[in-house]
Amino acid sequence: MNSPVRVVTLDGPSGSGKGTISRAVARHLGWHLLDSGALYRLVALAGRERGLERGDAQGHARIAGTMAVRFDAAADEEHILLEGREVTDAIRSEEVGQSASRVAAWPAVREALLERQRAFAVPPGLVADGRDMGTVVFPQAPLKIFLTANPEERARRRYNQLKQKGSSASLSALSREIAERDARDSSRAAAPLVPAADAVVIDSTRLDIEAVLGQVIELGRRRALWA
Ligand code: C5P
Repeated sequence: MNSPVRVVTLDGPSGSGKGTISRAVARHLGWHLLDSGALYRLVALAGRERGLERGDAQGHARIAGTMAVRFDAAADEEHILLEGREVTDAIRSEEVGQSASRVAAWPAVREALLERQRAFAVPPGLVADGRDMGTVVFPQAPLKIFLTANPEERARRRYNQLKQKGSSASLSALSREIAERDARDSSRAAAPLVPAADAVVIDSTRLDIEAVLGQVIELGRRRALWA
């Protein structure tokens, strides 16, 4: 647990911008990136493809422990492979997000993913994006960020993201779905979405990507995590 590799954690609700910021920080530093939400999405997708019952916690936990996953990042493109198949776009739908949030509430699934996530902490460093990176997976991380934005702004960002990927989405339906997912993520017993006691909270509602990136880089500099 006392990882010697430098880890920066970025947690927060959906649409807070943590995916974009995590990627930008990792690229800026030349560090590895853990998109932990993608792991929960992959479990949900694999469970559905294998015809598991929606309530089958053990079945989903088995998948979480055994699924073959590959994250490939080449230049500006990311590819996520599940059992050798490209599922990069398939896991990003709001529908898979909802299923991911249901499977993520089961402690057995979270437990099965724990070591898998910690294995991403390799030199020179890791930027870990999720809901419980600072509270559960990397509690010793020397820099923890909790990124938020107001609900309207978060729904708008998710809407634009989905639109860009060519999915049709209605802003009002998306607002409802995000609120539902956040409520479930925040109220669950296992690793709920809460800022770590030692996290720095950044509200990105009125900040662009460069401004948030600048704040994170400055925080790390002040803590002598990098020059
Ligand atoms: O971040 P993303 O929207 O891809 O995450 C999908 C779902 O996975 C979240 O709504 C949450 O329920 C779950 N998740 C989690 N813990 C993490 C990352 C994601 O419970 N560290």
